[in-house]
Amino acid sequence: VHNPARDLLLLADEERAEVWAALIRSIESYLSSVDDLPVATAVEPLLVREALSNLDLSRGIGASEALEFAVRGLTDWQLHTPHPRYFGLFNPASSTMGVVADALVAAWNPQLAAWSHSQFPYEVERFCIGEFGAKLGLPQPVDGTFCSGGAEANHTALLLALSERFPSFRAGGIRSLEGQPALYVSEQAHHSSIKAARACGLGDDAVRIVPVDDDLRISLGALEERLEADLAAGLLPFLLVGTAGGTSAGSIDPLPELAEVASRHGIWFHVDGAWGAAAALVPELSHLLKGIHAADSVTFDAHKFLSVPMGAGMLLTSHDGALGRAFGVDTAYMPHRGDDPSLRDPYTHSLQWSRRHIGLKVFLTLATLGWDGYAEALRWQVRMGRLLRAKLLRAEWEVMNSTELPIVCFRPEGEGIDVQGLADRVVQSGQAWISATRLHGGAPALRACVTSYRTGEADLDELILILETARAEARKSVVRTEMRRPHP
Ligand SMILES: Cc1ncc(COP(=O)(O)O)c(C=O)c1O
Repeated sequence: VHNPARDLLLLADEERAEVWAALIRSIESYLSSVDDLPVATAVEPLLVREALSNLDLSRGIGASEALEFAVRGLTDWQLHTPHPRYFGLFNPASSTMGVVADALVAAWNPQLAAWSHSQFPYEVERFCIGEFGAKLGLPQPVDGTFCSGGAEANHTALLLALSERFPSFRAGGIRSLEGQPALYVSEQAHHSSIKAARACGLGDDAVRIVPVDDDLRISLGALEERLEADLAAGLLPFLLVGTAGGTSAGSIDPLPELAEVASRHGIWFHVDGAWGAAAALVPELSHLLKGIHAADSVTFDAHKFLSVPMGAGMLLTSHDGALGRAFGVDTAYMPHRGDDPSLRDPYTHSLQWSRRHIGLKVFLTLATLGWDGYAEALRWQVRMGRLLRAKLLRAEWEVMNSTELPIVCFRPEGEGIDVQGLADRVVQSGQAWISATRLHGGAPALRACVTSYRTGEADLDELILILETARAEARKSVVRTEMRRPHP
């Protein structure tokens, strides 16, 4: 009997062959020409909505047309993170082997909830967790889980800390505790801790935001004061988060000192190295992460500095068994993995249940480049960051952060220029993408991060030119505003 579902979903052999060929042509054409596209364009949402609603979905439009529609939409109606002049929010240009892995995973579709469904993927991920944990110097055996990204990894860390510091939390929840739990992050930390605190029933107020020093690193004095005051008020400090590579400016907290504070107070020490932990792969940069080995858990995103396609986060922990205690549940319907203690059903170890094989894109990229290749690729971006810093200084911008990582925060010298307006002008040029942020005491800053391994020196020069034009225009409008102002 003819099976129409097979033809509809798998597609007939000939059509499938055409789709594969078109897919590869489209990807190759994009990757080889993305440099010539505008980094970002003004997208009119109504146009996109209209195009979507014009598709005949009652009968379907067929594979070739659907593919063409998606390729056109992705090319014309969005920002291009792989572009060499996307100086962006840690979103990388994808490694080719990462793209290959994502395609393989979609086709094989292993189920990473159960070991019985994904023995090879399970071992690949276990291997990667062990290897990356070793690079960070975490005590072996390192346990961990792949996850969607840094936010989920930080959420996982928060749950681990609650579960390990307050075992009664697992059954009794927050209300079983004798006080309000509190966690500590710096002003430069990523805001995912706040969302995680909400999701865990702690609320925003449980997140104690500690001021930073002139180098944007958590102030140890302010941290101690906050801890003492909270303890005196009956709060229950349970988690200290050190940031290694702050989102705004790449700052790295004093990790050895934080480890000591956490240990003295008996609190869980988590390091959010979503972007910055990659420094561990470059021997001459690994000193930046001094102290990370003492972390109880670490967030490390491969989909940031390691140029793996999104989403590929890792949560690593030196506490074997802690993930199982936090996430273990017993079900009648899941297949059992057997008695080998080195095997775990991933769903008993993570927030996610059914899960994509995230680790393959990390593994295939690493297997292709090797550690030496990775170090070389990261070094290139670091070198571009250093060059950009030097060129900005030469062009008389005030550089506001100091880091060996490839992220530069800067502002125009002199008064009166709207920094956000400058970032907008750069973005509107279509020639480059940078953003604005706030640093010391809320001071506005421009932020340019070398996120694409495709970035070369000519791209830096072009960014400087665009910035100079934007600054000159902004200065003119400052003068015009001054002239219009009535004289006293
Ligand atoms: C330091 C840091 N932690 C966590 C995150 C969240 O990561 P994701 O967006 O992958 O969830 C980010 C995102 O930029 C980050 O910079």
